[in-house]
Amino acid sequence: MTETRQSIHGQWSSRWAFILAATGSAVGLGNIWKFPYITGENGGGAFVLIYLLCIAVVGIPVMMSEIMLGRRGKQSPIHTMRTLAQEERGSSSWQIVGWSGVLAGFLILSFYSVIAGWALSYVVSAVSGSFSGISADQSSDLFGSLVSNPTVQLSWHTLFMVMTMFVVARGVRDGLEKAIRLLMPALLVLLLILVGYAMNSGGFMQGFHFLFDADFSKVTTEGVLTALGHAFFTLSLGMGAIMVYGAYLPDDVSITRVAFTVAIADTAVALLAGMAIFPIVFANGLEPGAGPGLIFQTLPVAFGAMPGGIIFGTLFFLLLVFAAWSSAISIIEPVVAWLVEDRGWSRKRASISAGGVTWVLGIATILSFNVWSEVKWFDKTIFDLLDYLTANIMLPLGGLLIALFAGWVMNQNHSRGELGMEEGLYQRWLLLIRYVTPVAIGLVFLNAIDLI
Ligand code: TRP
Repeated sequence: MTETRQSIHGQWSSRWAFILAATGSAVGLGNIWKFPYITGENGGGAFVLIYLLCIAVVGIPVMMSEIMLGRRGKQSPIHTMRTLAQEERGSSSWQIVGWSGVLAGFLILSFYSVIAGWALSYVVSAVSGSFSGISADQSSDLFGSLVSNPTVQLSWHTLFMVMTMFVVARGVRDGLEKAIRLLMPALLVLLLILVGYAMNSGGFMQGFHFLFDADFSKVTTEGVLTALGHAFFTLSLGMGAIMVYGAYLPDDVSITRVAFTVAIADTAVALLAGMAIFPIVFANGLEPGAGPGLIFQTLPVAFGAMPGGIIFGTLFFLLLVFAAWSSAISIIEPVVAWLVEDRGWSRKRASISAGGVTWVLGIATILSFNVWSEVKWFDKTIFDLLDYLTANIMLPLGGLLIALFAGWVMNQNHSRGELGMEEGLYQRWLLLIRYVTPVAIGLVFLNAIDLI
């Protein structure tokens, strides 16, 4: 019986606590680091439009489904899927959603932590005044010297993993709610300051047109897949992170409202990041398709030139670290929740073990930027492959299964009761989750098969 099920991991204190935690999970490196660089690589406006469409017709319905399944199951994604499949007389194979989420969690966090380590290192560069008066070339050199150095990156990766597992070990609710409440708005303010600077940088119109003029001739099949994958990545969907947060959601909270709030906040942050970065790119004659180093090469130029740049630069990278931190804990939470339930381990033991494995995996990403930079499959480095495999393949597949389960396997009285919205809206959600979402994901995949 659903009524008597309780999460052994605790519960959020309110609707707002969940919104903050889920926004903390969604807003992260995906918005500020990844969105600008993949937009740059995929030609701008048309890619952005496809990404926005994916958020609307795939992201939001899947987010509602994930929260719904999580709250009904009230356990780690593996056990939630098993319990719900039993309840709905479905196959126990649905657990695969949970298992693929566990694997994706390890893989994603392994590279996420390395990039967060770059942000940590940039806090130090910013506070020590390294950006003052820096030119675009010097900024690229600064970034180059970081990524070519495995030991320095390893230290920052280690620090970030320790920070992450420390919070996870204490349970995701403790302390984090308060910190996110303060730091998320602060990040928003700094982004607005950056956009203000960008408006006067001389490249604003060019940046704006790049971001919002849709020229579909620039989008490739792979670009469409990347846009879809990024919709999942940026909303933390497809691997159980939002599902496990949903497991801690009180029963009386409206799932629709929280899903829309989180998706809108996340999208706004990404678009603001784009509006801050591309004008600076164009004003300084930089290359929009520079790849994963894009924000690390462009933003120091802006901080180096603006009044108060040391303070703003330091604050910005600090807040970026924080945003990454509140995301990282959600990437590994499904794994830790499962270890606690299944093995009976303490949260501390589960966190240290999961963190240790992730830390080791991260070394491959670090080396892929230097010693192993020539190790490639399908013309992709280890980092590129990890990113591609998780964001473009595992998350959309996980999302497809979640949509099919929520739309077709789950009894409509159950989903209707859980979502608790008026009938017209419910029917629209059902239409999206049964037909539109699976067909969209299926079509993008079918197209992408040609790529291999
Ligand atoms: N959404 C986060 C970001 O944009 C990253 C993230 C957190 C994530 N949890 C996730 C990505 C789960 C995929 C799956 O930075």
